[in-house]
Amino acid sequence: MHALSSIPCLPEAASTPVGAEVYRGLTALPKRLSPWLFYDQRGSELFEAITALPEYYLTRTEHAIFAEYGDEILAAASGDRTLAIIELGAGTAAKTGLLLAAAARRQGRVSYYPIDISVSALEAGRSRIREEMPEVVVRPIVADYTTELDEIPHPGGRRLVLYIGSSIGNFEPSEAASLLRRLRGQLAPGDLLLLGADHIKDRNTLLPAYNDAAGVTAEFNRNMLTRIRRELGASFRPRLFRHCVCWNDRESRIEMHLESLIQQEVSIPALDLTVGFRRGESIHTENSYKFTPESVGGLLTRSGFVVERAWTDAKKWFGVYLAEAV
Ligand code: TRP
Repeated sequence: MHALSSIPCLPEAASTPVGAEVYRGLTALPKRLSPWLFYDQRGSELFEAITALPEYYLTRTEHAIFAEYGDEILAAASGDRTLAIIELGAGTAAKTGLLLAAAARRQGRVSYYPIDISVSALEAGRSRIREEMPEVVVRPIVADYTTELDEIPHPGGRRLVLYIGSSIGNFEPSEAASLLRRLRGQLAPGDLLLLGADHIKDRNTLLPAYNDAAGVTAEFNRNMLTRIRRELGASFRPRLFRHCVCWNDRESRIEMHLESLIQQEVSIPALDLTVGFRRGESIHTENSYKFTPESVGGLLTRSGFVVERAWTDAKKWFGVYLAEAV
C-alpha cells in the first residue's frame, strides 16, 4: 500500500529556487549562499539605503562622473547617429537619468529599454522618467539579464547598453567574461557598452564601504538569514552571526561573510536538514571584485569588445568605460 510513498526523496521545498540554493550552499564546504538571496522586499530597501551611506562612495562617485561627463559620454557614443539605450539591471534607474537627459539633449526623442527582474522597480522608474523627461520613451522589460540576454531588443539603429554600478564585480571573473560574451553575441558590430567598474584603492576606503558605522550593510547581510527563516522555517537567529568583511588581495575582491559567534545547530524543517556551525565558521555571501583600467580592458577584450574611451573621477576611484562591439 505504501510502496510508492516510501521511496526516499527530498522534500518539495528543496526544488524551489530558494530551497535548492539554501540546500546546496549550506551542505557545501566552505558554506556559501548566493547573493541573489539578498534581494527580498526588505533586502532591496536596505540596498537602496546602502547606496546613500557616507562610506559607500560607489554610487556617489559614478553619479558625479555622469553629472560632469554625461554630454561627453553621449557625444562619444552617438557620433552623429541616433542611439537606442538599453540598461541591464536598471532597477529604478536612479543614476540613469543624467545619461538619458544628455541623450535627449543630443537627439530629442530617446527610446529607453530598462531590463530588470523587479516589476515594481521598473514601474517606479518609468513613472518618474515620464514625469521628468517626456522625450524619453520607456519600454520596460521584465527579465533576468544573467540568464535571459536574448530579451535584448533590436529596434534598429545603434544600441548603447548600460551596465553600471560595478555589478560586473559581483561575478567571478570567468562568469563576468561569459556574461559579457553572451551580451556581445546579442549585439551587432558598432553597438556599444557603457560599463561602470569600481577601482582597486586603499583598503581604508574599500572596507568601510561594505562595513558602515550605522550597521546598514551588516543588517543587509544578516537579512539573508531572516529571509531563510521566514521562507523555509529555519531556526536561524541572525544575531548569532557576525557581519564580516575582508579584502582579499590575491583575488582583488571584497568578501562578505556571516560568521557564527558560537557553535550551534540550525534546523531547516522545509529541507529536512540540520546544519552544524563551528564557532567562527562562516557562510560566504558575496564578492565584490575591484578593477584597474588594465583589468577592465582585458575583460572587455576577451569578451569581444574594444575600449573606445574611459572617464574617471579626480581620485580615480571609479571608472566608466565605453566599449564597442567588434
Ligand atoms: N555592485 C555593488 C558593489 O559590489 C553593489 C552591491 C552588490 C553591494 N551587493 C552588495 C553593496 C552588497 C554592498 C553590499 O559594491
